[in-house]
Amino acid sequence: MSKIIDGKLISTMIKDELKEEVALLKTQGIHPGLAVILVGDNSASQVYVGNKKKACEYVGIKSFSYELPIETPEADLLELIDTLNRDDQVHGVLVQLPLPKHMDEQKVIMRISPAKDVDGFHPQSVGALSIGLPGFVSCTPAGIIELLKRSHVDIVGKNCVVVGRSNIVGKPVSLLLLREHGTVTICHSRTNNLTDILQQADIVVAAVGIPKFIKGEQLKADAVVIDVGMNRDENGKLCGDVDFDSAKDHVAAITPVPGGVGPMTIAMLMKNCVLAAKSNHC
Ligand code: GUN
Repeated sequence: MSKIIDGKLISTMIKDELKEEVALLKTQGIHPGLAVILVGDNSASQVYVGNKKKACEYVGIKSFSYELPIETPEADLLELIDTLNRDDQVHGVLVQLPLPKHMDEQKVIMRISPAKDVDGFHPQSVGALSIGLPGFVSCTPAGIIELLKRSHVDIVGKNCVVVGRSNIVGKPVSLLLLREHGTVTICHSRTNNLTDILQQADIVVAAVGIPKFIKGEQLKADAVVIDVGMNRDENGKLCGDVDFDSAKDHVAAITPVPGGVGPMTIAMLMKNCVLAAKSNHC
């Protein structure tokens, strides 16, 4: 029987630590604030944004919420970001993705001040990560490293196989695992001989966005598996990129979906907001 890595529990521990830190910061006159912008009515985005606002409330971070209609001109969104970049009460600015088709996501992300880029999506933040300079690290990759560390999984020298190459997860988590001295292989949906590569993996990060893409028998018995997938299976039930049923008794440890990586993303967003407040307060 594998160990189930409880992301919900670990994320609550992190939020409790942050809650104490925020209370202390407030006694020093620092009141962390996060602006959350949602454009349109994507139902998944509404749930994510709602969870982010709830986490802010739990930790003691003031959230400033902006819900813009789907037809909002891009220029209006850019103007709102400019205003928030100048607002001393706002330490972090988050624009929920995806944006409506008429908007250029990259242009919008680049408008956020790197000092308030708590999502870590700005090219300056990504560039800093790639050459080992300080900057915001995007929340899901940071949450994965935190999950491994708090579960006492040693990364140094280990074969880490990342399945997925997205800008939000696959690429940055690969850089972070490398920073932790892992030996990193990046695979994706078109990788040849994926099973051969997975059979060498001590740590697997599955972030390919395909339901149950990886089966238990492809993995080593002592592997630690972090499943970033958030998909619906053929019955409409939430599932990861790893077939949990075939993997759960086959590997050393695995994260469930839901209740694994998802809650960690939000905890790390809160951590980035507190960091931003500490370094940007005026
Ligand atoms: N859409 C899906 N994941 C994320 C995220 O981590 N941040 C933002 N801003 N949008 C998302």
